[in-house]
Amino acid sequence: MAKRIQFAKTGGPEVLELVDVEPKAPGAGEVQVRNQAVGLNFIDIYFRTGLYPAPSMPSGLGTEGAGVVESVGEGVTHLKVGDRVGYAQGPLGAYAELHTLPAAKVAVLPDGIDCDTAAASMLKGLTVQYLMRQTYELKGGETILWHAAAGGVGSIACQWARALGVKLIGTVSSPEKAELAKQNGAWATIDYTKEDVVERVKELTNGEMCDVVYDSVGKDTWETSLDCLKPRALMVSFGNASGAVEGVNIGILNQKGSLFVTRPSLNGYADTRERFEAMCNDLFGMLESGKIKIDIAQRFALEEAGKAQQALASRQTTGSTILLP
Ligand SMILES: NC(=O)c1ccc[n+]([C@@H]2O[C@H](COP(=O)([O-])OP(=O)(O)OC[C@H]3O[C@@H](n4cnc5c(N)ncnc54)[C@H](OP(=O)(O)O)[C@@H]3O)[C@@H](O)[C@H]2O)c1
Repeated sequence: MAKRIQFAKTGGPEVLELVDVEPKAPGAGEVQVRNQAVGLNFIDIYFRTGLYPAPSMPSGLGTEGAGVVESVGEGVTHLKVGDRVGYAQGPLGAYAELHTLPAAKVAVLPDGIDCDTAAASMLKGLTVQYLMRQTYELKGGETILWHAAAGGVGSIACQWARALGVKLIGTVSSPEKAELAKQNGAWATIDYTKEDVVERVKELTNGEMCDVVYDSVGKDTWETSLDCLKPRALMVSFGNASGAVEGVNIGILNQKGSLFVTRPSLNGYADTRERFEAMCNDLFGMLESGKIKIDIAQRFALEEAGKAQQALASRQTTGSTILLP
């Protein structure tokens, strides 16, 4: 038996329960990982609340973790028992002592990257990798707007932008978060609870506005984000922290300057083992070179998953958060 967090109905943090289960043995092409650390992500909240439907109930939760391979299924050749590994995709159920998932979604960790760091950075860092290197290939010199710049994904984005020579304007909700984003390499910050974001972007860019806006806040920031773009620039809507963007009239893209818009996901980019591994190599290189440092600002025991999610949802966290089984 092994402990895992599961939920039998959608709702608040109270629906999460710690239970003992018989873990699924790895089938063909699968591995079982004994987690040393589990990543906490906003997407976990979307599944718990029902914004994203879980495939079945009761359901496990979480898709990011790192630990040691406990057993391997038939046909798995690139992983063996005892390997230190990390993962960021696959079936829900990472909030657990043991997690079974497709081996193609699991990467061997370089010696220089410990399990806590991997669990705190794989989902968030691979997301920044595809957003900055694939959705729009930033080359250096661009000006971009990044919402929630002191959060888990945002803290990595600030550092990656600095390494690329990109001017990242980060939005935040407090002076403390502004300071953190600046330390991580944000070129400028805007407190979107007090300042007019469009006016500040205008001032900061001498009226030129941004080449790309990366918006994970969703409903509350959609229109503001469009107004921060140059003509024909790209709006990347990649999250729903304030609620989903709905009922968009496509004509708005014309009115606001022949804009482009995309709504990407990590699964849409790391969709083959080859692409996943190439993205991991890029992220691991950034971590090993020291260009990106992972700030694990919160650690919770596995059984405190509800409390951890509550902290994330109420904007109390900065950087990354991990759960410890
Ligand atoms: N599409 C993808 O592939 C993908 C992958 C990973 C993550 N994401 C998205 O990226 C975002 C960041 O994820 P994360 O796990 O790193 O979380 P996070 O940024 O650490 O936390 C979310 C942050 O969003 C901001 N926020 C703005 N409005 C909010 C509201 N109404 N309620 C709660 N927070 C609000 C808060 O920062 P302030 O206090 O500074 O406003 C909060 O700290 C999430 O939207 C997530 O869904 C998308």
